[in-house]
Amino acid sequence: MVMQFDASHGFLKEDIGSYQNEVSRIHKMIHEKTGAGNDFLGWVDWPVNYDKDEFERIVKLAEKLDGKFDTLVVCGIGGSYLGARAAIEMINGLYPDNGKEVIFAGNTFSSTYMSQVLSHIKDKNVVVNVISKSGTTTETALAFRMLREFMDQKYGKEGAKERIIATTDKARGTLKALADQEGYESFVIPDDIGGRYSVITPVGLVPMALMGIDIRKVMEGLLAAYQELNTDDLEKNPAYRYAVARRILQNQGYNVEMFVTYEPQLSMLSEWWKQLLGESEGKDGKGILPDSATFSTDLHSLGQFIQQGSKVLYETIFKVEKPTLDVTIPSDPQNGDQMNYLAGKNLDWVNKMACEGTLQAHVESGNVPNLIITVPDMKEYSFGYLCYFFFIATAMTCYMLDINPFNQPGVEIYKKNMFHLLGKPGYEK
Ligand code: PA5
Repeated sequence: MVMQFDASHGFLKEDIGSYQNEVSRIHKMIHEKTGAGNDFLGWVDWPVNYDKDEFERIVKLAEKLDGKFDTLVVCGIGGSYLGARAAIEMINGLYPDNGKEVIFAGNTFSSTYMSQVLSHIKDKNVVVNVISKSGTTTETALAFRMLREFMDQKYGKEGAKERIIATTDKARGTLKALADQEGYESFVIPDDIGGRYSVITPVGLVPMALMGIDIRKVMEGLLAAYQELNTDDLEKNPAYRYAVARRILQNQGYNVEMFVTYEPQLSMLSEWWKQLLGESEGKDGKGILPDSATFSTDLHSLGQFIQQGSKVLYETIFKVEKPTLDVTIPSDPQNGDQMNYLAGKNLDWVNKMACEGTLQAHVESGNVPNLIITVPDMKEYSFGYLCYFFFIATAMTCYMLDINPFNQPGVEIYKKNMFHLLGKPGYEK
């Protein structure tokens, strides 16, 4: 089992095993596709059912463009943004030495941000991947209009055509029509996979491949999780144990879950996790609020609240066994900073000791429940694996609340008000 789950600190007042019958019933419901939102369960068998020809086309495109650009602009929002960013940052780190940078656009209306993006890429060698299932998402469509104008001016229409890639619906929508009209290479977002479950489709795979990530290994990890987690046996399925532990803790009054990592390159993974759990579960007046923190950075800010503030939250510690890189602490003959007691140690060892010490502090004197999820490393295979782990855990934990994990009716309300204020035709009232 690649990922481990541990809830052994004595905080759960119910036995996880007592939920076995309910878990078995829901497991069947997920795999037989009989639950609410069952037309969005395409991710369940995706590790074996994905379009192999399209996958090879992604690999070939990345090979073709390798060395031909230095800046990738990924234009998308929500489920068409967070997964790609989480994967690229987790796997490549924040300052990779591979001669390529990735910039994200289309995820904000900030004029300063967009102006700075356009100015930053002015003299760069640019490729754009626009991602939108609907093609009508305002943030993305506006940013892409500006990026398209930029690309056409910089490279001419023909040149731009070779450098713009569209990931969208296979047949419908304005982006699909635009891509066909302009001749952009396009990839498909499957109908039956919603935004927050789509990182394992071209939505995530195209940007990952362009940034030099081995997407075959991502799919291998995904497949391993699909095989190992396809059991209703709570003893053997850590994703379901995690789902049940969440429900038990909420029954005990904990309505906030803080997802804690100890690696800055995982902070976007936390954002992806927040969307996955928050958008799936937060409806019908139910759900746990997903929150996140990156330690030890945030121990110097939020640490105080966690240790001694009101007891509203529990933590889920996302532990990484092996860092991508490590560094040895040098010795200093002067020892002016009095750090010689750590000379010769690896920095990751210090990070792990901070994690152990914090866990003890929060659990023993802070009385904050801690769940622990462990992954071996931050490589491609682990990323693929963790996607499936969290997808299946999310489906389970939502169905336990009798909630459809695959819709997001609440996000439309702000759009209607905004469209009215913007004067969008059809929203006059
Ligand atoms: O989870 C979701 O459905 C949303 O976050 C969408 O992915 C997001 O709004 C982007 O939508 P689209 O891909 O249609 O532009």
